[in-house]
Amino acid sequence: MKNFNVRILSNEPVAADVFRLTLDAPELAKTSRAGQFVQVKVSDEFTLRRPLGIASTAGGRVKIFYRVVGRGTEALTKKVGGDWLSALGALGNGFANPSGKVLLVGGGMGLAPLLCAAENFSADVLIGGRTKAEVLFWQDEFAPHVEKIFITTDDGSYAKKGFAIDLLPEVLSAENYSAVYTCGPEIMMRGVAKLAMDNNLPCQVSFEKRMACGLGACLSCSIDTTDGRKKVCKDGPIFDAAKVFGGDDVG
Ligand SMILES: Cc1cc2nc3c(=O)[nH]c(=O)nc-3n(C[C@H](O)[C@H](O)[C@H](O)COP(=O)(O)OP(=O)(O)OC[C@H]3O[C@@H](n4cnc5c(N)ncnc54)[C@H](O)[C@@H]3O)c2cc1C
Ligand code: FES
Repeated sequence: MKNFNVRILSNEPVAADVFRLTLDAPELAKTSRAGQFVQVKVSDEFTLRRPLGIASTAGGRVKIFYRVVGRGTEALTKKVGGDWLSALGALGNGFANPSGKVLLVGGGMGLAPLLCAAENFSADVLIGGRTKAEVLFWQDEFAPHVEKIFITTDDGSYAKKGFAIDLLPEVLSAENYSAVYTCGPEIMMRGVAKLAMDNNLPCQVSFEKRMACGLGACLSCSIDTTDGRKKVCKDGPIFDAAKVFGGDDVG
């Protein structure tokens, strides 16, 4: 892990309140694993860095997708190509290398780290979003890297109406996957984990917690697991579903 001062190549909107940030960062790209993240210093105005998932490392460029939710991400939208950014990374553990084809199941911005998994592993993806506009750019991003793309929209404006979890049983029964990797709202991940376990498939989940240091020093991101208390920034953000959702009924 290192602090990289990287040049911004572009920072453009891809859907309402969602931006794609592309960084010229060959060394960071080379040393990153799918599932890891960076802590971005938006400007000197912000003491705390913002954790953002690494979505792509192809061609020495690091791509990040972010939703504008507060002051930091709002300030990030003002950056333009040619500006410089400090990015601390790559942080966290990353997804395990699967033994065969993996099914990626993501909702909303949870698709960002899964895109990097699609670049690196043999995979299909199940994309869940609220509307057509929220899933179309993900479809374009995943298309060159996966064999099959399955899509659901909550409002039925595109592809199958409903939640990703509704389509999951059908997708799982049609192919022999070696594992399921998921990232998105916790309620979705719990449902995905339960179905994966019911199908005797290992499931890894990418967890999100409010973070301060991002380096394992402040304990602000601790969660309970069956192996005791763990820090999402350092021991995660990727965990075995069975360890974070415990022996409880994960559904
Ligand atoms: C490992 C990890 C990877 C992430 N990857 C992405 C991604 O790829 N794309 C994306 O859009 N978002 C991602 N997030 C969420 C993102 O970090 C927050 O949306 C962002 O920090 C909000 O900053 P803000 O200043 O706009 O919001 P504010 O609410 O003003 O932030 C206030 C403080 O809370 C922290 N904070 C707020 N929400 C979150 C959150 N959900 N997680 C962690 N810290 C938070 C901020 O970092 C900041 O320190 C990720 C979070 C984690 C933990
Ligand atoms: S954010 Fe400080 S320990 Fe994880």
